[in-house]
Amino acid sequence: MAVTGPDVYDGIPKVELHCHVEGTVRPSTVVELARRAGHPLPVDDPRQLYRYDSLDSFLAIFWLVQETLLTRDDWARIAYESLVDGAAHGLRYREMFFTPARHLAAGQDLGEIVAGLTDGIEAAETEVPVRCALVADIDKAYGPAAGLELVDRIGDLLRGGRARRVIGVGADSTELGVDLAAFAPAFAAAGRLGLRRTCHAGEAVGAGPENIRIAIDVLGVERIDHGIAIVEDPALLRRVASEGIPLTVCPTSNVVIANRYASLAEHPLPAMRDAGLLVTINTDDPAMMGLDLGAEYRAVADGCGFTAASLAELAIDGIRSTWLDASEQAALRADFEGVVAGLPVPEA
Ligand code: ADE
Ligand code: ZN
Repeated sequence: MAVTGPDVYDGIPKVELHCHVEGTVRPSTVVELARRAGHPLPVDDPRQLYRYDSLDSFLAIFWLVQETLLTRDDWARIAYESLVDGAAHGLRYREMFFTPARHLAAGQDLGEIVAGLTDGIEAAETEVPVRCALVADIDKAYGPAAGLELVDRIGDLLRGGRARRVIGVGADSTELGVDLAAFAPAFAAAGRLGLRRTCHAGEAVGAGPENIRIAIDVLGVERIDHGIAIVEDPALLRRVASEGIPLTVCPTSNVVIANRYASLAEHPLPAMRDAGLLVTINTDDPAMMGLDLGAEYRAVADGCGFTAASLAELAIDGIRSTWLDASEQAALRADFEGVVAGLPVPEA
């Protein structure tokens, strides 16, 4: 695609709906927090650990990063740095995952975690033009009972006015060997609390489209995170397209983390769009792949062969897929249209 200039993609105002705060921690911050947490890393630079041959091999490293987060201030710091770093690449609004199972099992207080993340979000929002809501992710590796417990504790915080940034519940972590339907009670409880619902499904090598169907029909989710296996089930694909259920796709992650494709040229994103699916572009765990949101747009443009017009549509599809109300979506769209009109983005 004929787009020039290193900052064109950073300049596009973007939303992001699939990004784990723990996967955005600056490598220098990981080193510092690990030392302070009393389990220094086995390497000088965490980037030496950031090579993965499967989702589960990635998760082992992701969990090491998670274990460096001990205090409210740690959570505040990573949220703040994450949003400031994102804003530098055009991020305007994010619905951001945090996955506290490991920390809760180690005795941390959910209220402190949420308060810390909120502190960091609010500090960033006063400094840079970004806004952020939180999505509490169930770690599937900890099982359905822990998932329900997490949702119940979020409910306690909501009733106490202590979780105003938390707008939804999701589920991430390992996929193979997990009985996704067993998480139905947790998702039903989230629905009763008025929380929005999403779920990682159809991501790992070896995972087919069945988890996508379970997430929609059994868990009642409104979005699917990844969902790339949907191309293996044309009937499900047609249904998800006609119902307008968004898929938060993370193309580089699918290559680098899940190792599902050898390169972006093999990624089904163009086919998914052509089939009428509502797809959005996201970074998943950018700091653990040397990635940022502007670079992801550039990679998709170059690797998947999208035109400038398609990329603009993808950015707008991101806005349409947010859980913001219509007036907030309209404001983001006006921002997008105002900025993009002035960008040097020629048609391919
Ligand atoms: N946690 C962080 N990144 C993840 C991913 N890509 N899939 C599942 N769980 C995750
Ligand atoms: Zn993810």
